[in-house]
Amino acid sequence: MYILGIETSCDETAAGVASNSEILSNIILTQSAHSRYGGVVPEIASREHIRHIVPIVDEALQKAEIRFADLSAIAVTRGPGLVGCLLVGVSYARNLGLSLDIPVVGVNHLEAHISTAFTDSEIDFPLLCLVVSGGHTLLVVVNGFGKYEILGSSRDDAAGEAFDKVANLLGLTYPGGAKLDDLAEGGDPGIFRFPTVKLKKGRWDFSFSGIKTAVALKIKELENTEYDPANVAAGFRQAAVKMLISKLEDAIEYTRCSRFAIVGGVAQNKLLRSEVDRLSAKTGVGCYYPDQSLCGDNGAMVAIAGNLMLENNINYESDFDASAYLPLK
Ligand code: KG4
Ligand code: ZN
Repeated sequence: MYILGIETSCDETAAGVASNSEILSNIILTQSAHSRYGGVVPEIASREHIRHIVPIVDEALQKAEIRFADLSAIAVTRGPGLVGCLLVGVSYARNLGLSLDIPVVGVNHLEAHISTAFTDSEIDFPLLCLVVSGGHTLLVVVNGFGKYEILGSSRDDAAGEAFDKVANLLGLTYPGGAKLDDLAEGGDPGIFRFPTVKLKKGRWDFSFSGIKTAVALKIKELENTEYDPANVAAGFRQAAVKMLISKLEDAIEYTRCSRFAIVGGVAQNKLLRSEVDRLSAKTGVGCYYPDQSLCGDNGAMVAIAGNLMLENNINYESDFDASAYLPLK
């Protein structure tokens, strides 16, 4: 059984092929057209998806060494995301499904990120999953595929959004999260310390806008002085990661989870990965983070989620539309 996964919810045009849980290809095109605007321009993103979706899907099939006729199903991100972008993927997938006479499954983007935790060979439930991406920060108890209990989310900026905004303040081009992470590697986190916000124990929401403002004020204060931006990046990264880790630690204790995982674009962060390892050693609860290629938006995660949906016969709706707001159920 070969399943094609298509992802066009934001600024990645991506497609991947999976055979059951095995990933055969994962082709990702990150649109570069947005970097000079400092953020994603929805209209440009939709047009770029239209331009790239056909060659990206072709490449995904070629890399997997299969033909369209070999596909048994198609999975496509139906939301949440930019509706004009989602529409490109959904229309393409539904038309392809009609012409091949195979099922098309609409996947929730957050569930696709969560499904990357299912590539963990030691997965165990209840699994505590931290979703950290450019658009979302969610702490979820996963009791099985499709069985979610949301503990908390960000009250303002998502974790990745905060990284991108601080990167922008430091003059790094969009998307700046990974660039800031690299810059921070060469900095000293002890020079500029930023306040961390921790909502009370037992309250599971996050807030990143305060730390972002603190960095903006510090950069303004340093304007006419000589300072090393790497130290600002390191100070911010340390504080942001600390906020995520301390909430994870409380939630591990509260949920008595069997395992925990971090998924989404920010799960590539080097400090976050090493702190997650440390937390695992400290608590004795096993942890998992997917391969880097599965963290940012990609088509393989959509194929994995689609495959799990079909296997478990959950949430399967043959008649679905693109949806900008789509809660995780
Ligand atoms: O999951 P994703 O590809 O897209 C959304 O669903 O939003 O996440 C993208 C986000 C961006 O904000 C990007 O800057 C951030 O993930 N990101 C990182 C790193 N790599 C990507 N943030 C911090 N450190 C990184 N190494
Ligand atoms: Zn995403």
